[in-house]
Amino acid sequence: MKRIVCETYDEMSQIGAYVFSEQIWRKPDSVLGFATGGTPAGMYRCLVKMYNDGLVDFSKVTTFNLDEYYPMSKSSSHSYDYFMWDNLFSKINVRRESVYLPNGGAADPEKACDDYERLLESRGGLDIQLLGIGNNGHIAFNEPADELRVRTYVAELTADTIEANSRFFESAADVPRRALTMGMGSIMSARRILMLIAGEKKAPAVKAMFSGRITPKFPASLLQLHPDAVVILDKDAASML
Ligand code: F6R
Repeated sequence: MKRIVCETYDEMSQIGAYVFSEQIWRKPDSVLGFATGGTPAGMYRCLVKMYNDGLVDFSKVTTFNLDEYYPMSKSSSHSYDYFMWDNLFSKINVRRESVYLPNGGAADPEKACDDYERLLESRGGLDIQLLGIGNNGHIAFNEPADELRVRTYVAELTADTIEANSRFFESAADVPRRALTMGMGSIMSARRILMLIAGEKKAPAVKAMFSGRITPKFPASLLQLHPDAVVILDKDAASML
């Protein structure tokens, strides 16, 4: 697992945008995996700018997102679907029919997870997956546990994650308790992984992730096994390394 330490959040975001752009330059019909949350918003702004400057073309890409709350309607401003259109998709030339997120409005969530996994496989898997990390080491909604799941599934959010995500809702009571999320195998099957991490609060998680040990109690530690994973972090996030 390689790491690049940047001076600032903006520098981290710009380098992340270059990594994704370079993937698209090399393979215009790349299958891109995206994430939501506070961390990738800067990278999405950089990608929009690069698109506006004529430097990158999204017309042939296919995109898959890591996760979506359940139950959650697409049109809700709390949905990850809304976040992605608001921050990125509506501002670039990606084709609407090439954008996929797990279906938070499905009547049968288990079936929605199986369908999502099959769709991902039918598109040839992910060329590159963007990730953030939770303070507790979660990636996507794969929370610390005795066992981790391999493929897309219905996850229960932990109290830590409900608390951390409550900043996007009126209160913690409004955060959905479940989510549809790619499993660890879906993520680890991506040919490349790019993780962005910013801020001092994440420093203990960064230290645990680079510990040289692997445990389901800290899901991000599994990334140490990935053959092509790059972590870009700002200096505050890297302060305990
Ligand atoms: C989002 C996701 C989450 C976040 C993580 C960090 O799609 O899967 O695992 O990456 O919770 O979130 P931020 O960036 O808000 O600190």
